[in-house]
Amino acid sequence: MSNSKAEHPMPCKTIRDFDLRGKRVLVRADLNVPAQNKKITDTTRIDRLRPTIDALRGAGAKIIILSHFGRPDGERTPSLSLSFLVPALEESWGAPVSFAQDCVGPAAQSAAEGLKAGDVLLLENVRFHKGEETNDPDFIKALASLGDVYVNDAFSTAHRAHASTEGLAHALPAAAGLMMTQELEALDRALENPKKPVAALVGGSKISTKLNVLYNILEKTDYLILGGAMATTFLYAQGAAVGASLCEKNMADEASAIMARAQIQGCEIVLPLDSFVVRDIRSGAPFEIVESDAIPEGCMAIDIGPRSVENIVRKMSACKTILWNGPLGVFEIKPFDAGTNAVAGEVANLTAAGKIVSIAGGGDTVAALENAGVAEKFSYISTAGGAFLEWLEGKTLPGVAALMKDGE
Ligand code: 3PG
Repeated sequence: MSNSKAEHPMPCKTIRDFDLRGKRVLVRADLNVPAQNKKITDTTRIDRLRPTIDALRGAGAKIIILSHFGRPDGERTPSLSLSFLVPALEESWGAPVSFAQDCVGPAAQSAAEGLKAGDVLLLENVRFHKGEETNDPDFIKALASLGDVYVNDAFSTAHRAHASTEGLAHALPAAAGLMMTQELEALDRALENPKKPVAALVGGSKISTKLNVLYNILEKTDYLILGGAMATTFLYAQGAAVGASLCEKNMADEASAIMARAQIQGCEIVLPLDSFVVRDIRSGAPFEIVESDAIPEGCMAIDIGPRSVENIVRKMSACKTILWNGPLGVFEIKPFDAGTNAVAGEVANLTAAGKIVSIAGGGDTVAALENAGVAEKFSYISTAGGAFLEWLEGKTLPGVAALMKDGE
């Protein structure tokens, strides 16, 4: 995946490369949106599809949307039907959306046949069929029979080699949607072809789940700034007293190996200097600010302190690119979002001043930046969770690789 706007043209076809007038276009979207009792709590993934939908409608295509929702394991599961999404899609995309009760077979066929140029059809959850996750050739054939062209606009599912995310790209002429294109360009600007120096902020609780991420990132960045409980494991490996803090003591050797590797690579690992500590984790708990390597007995580190923030801000001000994955403290519990908020605010300021390109993604990260009120101010925020992490690990994502097949 090496492309950035000027020097690196997209190495795969995009929807701009096809004449789509009157063509049936199968669009793999990720409508796996957060919802409670069928009420959508965040429409970002839907809203970001609008440019692709607009472009396809403008080009006179017949648009057929494929997506999964949840993990029904190949069983028709009414609670995981996509039908509840139709009003939200219509509102976000400003277009009528029809719905077919299945994604293959007679219901899908007749709905697809009835489409006129510019119409939008949503098919039922692809994961109601076992063939989706097994990438089954017959299931791929059944899906492919509904369309003339395949468009993948779901980077957040690209780590899955499923029929609708990977198999279809080999069965039909394939292109990246506009959101996929934007995502690949942003990720390229963050790690593959970034403006240097580059800092990566990595937080979260465990180094055991991010080992490959850490090794890959330290090869490509100048500063690896650590926060969250994972930083405690690094401090422990250096001999710090960590009190009752969350700490993977059995990962101390790994942490030391990462620090040694970083030194060889010329990547500076930046650890917290001071920490907010509490005796119990709850909103408004009494806290103290102590040296991060001298956490008193019975106390837990819960956020980075002001000196740590100052140090991080100093390092970041020397950088041109900042990549962020994982909160720096327990941001869900106030006031222990202070460290994450202060650093996020500075990233937003540097971005607004045109001094850096800032890219964030993965699981809790977006929630933490939204809590800080600055998500809109980053250069790019990925809506991908698992796919973003696998990309940070340097893995080839099957959904992306399949799109590259004709473009290389
Ligand atoms: C996500 O929400 O990260 C994607 O939709 C992928 O979902 P999955 O982990 O169930 O494949």
